[in-house]
This record gives sequence, structure tokens and C-alpha cells, in this order.
Amino acid sequence: MRVAILISGGGSNMVRLVESMAGDHPARPCLVLANSADAGGLAKAQEMGVPTAHVDHRRFKGGREAFEKELQNVIEEHGSDMICLAGFMRVLTEGFTRLWEGRMLNIHPSLLPKYKGLDTHQRAIDAGDAEAGCTVHEVTARLDDGPILGQARVPILAGDTAETLAARVLEQEHKLYPAVLRRFASGERGRIDWG
Ligand code: GRF
Repeated sequence: MRVAILISGGGSNMVRLVESMAGDHPARPCLVLANSADAGGLAKAQEMGVPTAHVDHRRFKGGREAFEKELQNVIEEHGSDMICLAGFMRVLTEGFTRLWEGRMLNIHPSLLPKYKGLDTHQRAIDAGDAEAGCTVHEVTARLDDGPILGQARVPILAGDTAETLAARVLEQEHKLYPAVLRRFASGERGRIDWG
């Protein structure tokens, strides 16, 4: 199974996914693709010997479809069988998600269906929640809404800020996403629930 990983920033989840795809793992990374040339994760991917590319979404003024067509070209050129979104901060249209339905995963830093969208940690703190966490789900046309494949829960502690909570959740993301990917690439569909 050849996996394309899409990033926008530092790519800490991408790094763990690439590191996990070794030995008897049924998948291998075939591409790390960013929506800008200055995504920090591109250099990390190159250091790990993974082919990289970037498609700058700002080159496609207003043309979301044109941007996604270029993404699709690059992803196909690298022979990808599936996609992992990992800190990829562009919303994908229904046209693109339909192409990859059942073959595209995303990690979201909340316990979906709670807190779709942005600022998930601050919203959980403001709501007085006792716990937070992260979710790996299949990507569908509706944002942060597809079938859930795995979740990891962490406590929200007195005095937590969005930053301290984000750090606690990110630690779990780095374990959950590789575990879900291995299960998904093996053809298993049992949901993972931790914490
Ligand atoms: C993480 O919080 C992840 O949940 C979200 O993007 C953030 C940064 O991820 N999708 P990464 O360090 O770029 O993998």
C-alpha cells in the first residue's frame, strides 16, 4: 500500500507515520506533499528519504478545483494508493474527497463529533470539559465528519491552557495515527479507543 501524506506545517504526525511504515508494515510512504514550499515537514521528509513536492494553493487564486487538480496530478504521479492528511490545513471539495472516498484518512485534535473545525483545545477548556483528545477518521465531503477509526482521550487538568492541552493531545496523536494506519492498511476496520 503506497501512502501519500499531505501536510501544511511542521509535519510531526507525518514523521511518526513515515517512521512507523517499516519492516512487516503493509504500507510505505510514497510522497509527502505540502500546500506551500516553506512547510517545515518537507525538509524532515527529505531527510527520511521520502519523495516530496509542494503545490502552492496561493497560485490558484480562488480556483479550489484547479488547485486540487494539481494535487491529484502529483499524488497520481507518485503511484499513491491512499492519502493521510496530517496537519493539512486546506478544506478539500467534495470532488476531491469523492475521488479518495474510503482511501483518505485525517487526524483531528478533538473527540469528534465534538469541536469540528479550529481552536479545538480552547473550546474544550472553555466548555469546562473533563477530557479532550484526538480522532482519526475517514475523510468525506463533510468537514471532520467521516467514519471514526480511532480515538485517544486525555484529561483536561486544572490550569491547562490551549498550549499545554495541545501538547498532551499531540503526544497521543503520534501514537494513534500510526496504529490506525497500520490497521487500515492491513484491511482491518476495528475501531481503536484509548484512554
Ligand atoms: C495537530 O494538532 C494535528 O491534530 C492537526 O494539525 C496539528 C499539527 O500537526 N491536524 P503536525 O505537527 O503538522 O503533524
